[in-house]
Amino acid sequence: MNPDIKKYAALFVAQRIEIGEKEWFFQPRVPSAAAKGVSMAFSHDTADKKTFGKPDTACGDAACRIPECSGGETVSSGETLEELHGAVKECLRCSLGDTRTRFVFGSGNPHAPIMFIGEAPGAEEDNQGLPFVGRAGQLLTKMIESIKLRREDVYIANILKCRPPGNRDPLPSEIEKCEPILIRQIEIIRPRIICALGRISGQTLLRSTATLGALREKVHDYHGVKLVVTYHPAALLRNPQWKRPTWEDLKFLRREYDGMEIS
Ligand code: URA
Repeated sequence: MNPDIKKYAALFVAQRIEIGEKEWFFQPRVPSAAAKGVSMAFSHDTADKKTFGKPDTACGDAACRIPECSGGETVSSGETLEELHGAVKECLRCSLGDTRTRFVFGSGNPHAPIMFIGEAPGAEEDNQGLPFVGRAGQLLTKMIESIKLRREDVYIANILKCRPPGNRDPLPSEIEKCEPILIRQIEIIRPRIICALGRISGQTLLRSTATLGALREKVHDYHGVKLVVTYHPAALLRNPQWKRPTWEDLKFLRREYDGMEIS
């Protein structure tokens, strides 16, 4: 191989990014990759964070968030949220499929510029098949309205689509099986900014072990999408003293989204 190829490839990538292209390929997608429904919008973690486009060859890094690279699962079905929902709603990839009442796909504006991502459905969500409809959900609605948005303007989803029994924390194996659905939702919706609700959501999406305190007040990059982290509304119900810092996070979110200053 020409030893300069990497240099030229890097130059090519930098130029495509500079002109604002978000999806590109060095060569046409090979049929087998297309048949596997290889995701197109996300970048290798190990490469330049700004490089978009799905590689034809997996990088093999276990920490890479492109599931083909880390050996993880992918979800290819669905060009629309409805199609995707139809394809995954009977999911039995983990044991939560056996204990759930309803599959909680997500709800809201399919073209939402802002996505809120929680951890997993609770009892009320499991009953209704909708995310954040219990007490924490009512608080989330107020949080959204506090920054002059309506719940129906945004999209709300969870990392896990089925309720863990007793509301226990999601297991790594459950996250591994379920997160590809969320990734596909994000690919379809293409939000401008994501707000991760709580430590587990922030740590899972960012593949981080940092504390919530360390994840807050920063704009992270989630495959080219801005991501901020704040307290989970259920945690706020238990610890009202965290409402003030959450308010600061929400104002920060709105500012990062469209520059609006909320007083
Ligand atoms: N907590 C979550 O993380 N998600 C819900 O949908 C409800 C409560």
